[in-house]
Amino acid sequence: MEQFAFPFQQTTIAQLPAHIQELIAEASKATHYAYAPYSQFHVGAAALLADGSIKTGSNHENASYPAGICAERGLLSGINPLDKQQQILAMAVNYTSNNAANATPLSPCGICRQTILETQLAQNAPIALYMCSPDGPVIYVEDAAHLLPFYFSSKNLNK
Ligand code: THU
Repeated sequence: MEQFAFPFQQTTIAQLPAHIQELIAEASKATHYAYAPYSQFHVGAAALLADGSIKTGSNHENASYPAGICAERGLLSGINPLDKQQQILAMAVNYTSNNAANATPLSPCGICRQTILETQLAQNAPIALYMCSPDGPVIYVEDAAHLLPFYFSSKNLNK
């Protein structure tokens, strides 16, 4: 049986460099703009762009549940992956919830992983991903592909 391993780091916000702490702070702020009346799970996502700016997004739910969108994809839909100025160096996600275990880092859903990966492939540069929690523990990967082994990509579509 073959085994798959991928590199990740578990840390705390205080141990990360200042510019990543700022990125995480922006993701945390973005939870305030989440529209999550059904799950009460308020997610904020932030992207650090190549020009040093930070863009944010939040989850937006819908009474027709599948119409809702995660914070990560809401954020990415406003960023052009082919614009070099807008290349994404890193993303952070955090949440607030009265129901969740607040020490568990937010792990992006499968569709968001696929979407982040498509952005990474389009910009041809890795996106580091910081998965945060309200109580502090952070898990990060330097490359979004590490979160999606055997991912589906354009390579699968053509000979
Ligand atoms: N959600 C996100 O926005 N990002 C994730 O990575 C996981 C889940 C949202 C979707 C839904 O609005 C709520 O969190 C509960 O699943």
